[in-house]
Amino acid sequence: RDAPYLRVTPTMLRYYTGRKGKDAWMALGGRVYNITPYIPFHPGGEPELLRGAGRDGTTLFGEVHPWVNYEGMLSACLVGIYVTEEEGAA
Ligand code: HEM
Repeated sequence: RDAPYLRVTPTMLRYYTGRKGKDAWMALGGRVYNITPYIPFHPGGEPELLRGAGRDGTTLFGEVHPWVNYEGMLSACLVGIYVTEEEGAA
């Protein structure tokens, strides 16, 4: 199921901060999501959500609300799988 998706490296992810008109991407559990459409709906607000944007938000997410089913909520926002720089170059 992972195979057809884009391979996103940390360098690629860092661009998508959700700031200055850019989309917001977040790595969660080894997958990368475009969370931009979810920003207005986040119960914790935009600044909190964007703390995890442009990077791997897995730990932060788990610290705040491990019970939230992000996989279900963001299934339509899946961009690809999160890989290392080395894997991205391969
Ligand atoms: C609630 C922070 C990512 C979904 C909250 C709240 C905070 C927060 C502080 C509590 C708001 C309140 O009760 O006043 C963060 C941070 C994130 C993050 C720092 C960065 C990783 C996400 C993502 C999703 C999400 C990616 C969904 C895909 C929710 C939901 C609630 C919530 C559903 C309500 C949970 C409940 O009340 O049981 N968030 N959030 N959050 N967030 Fe996030």
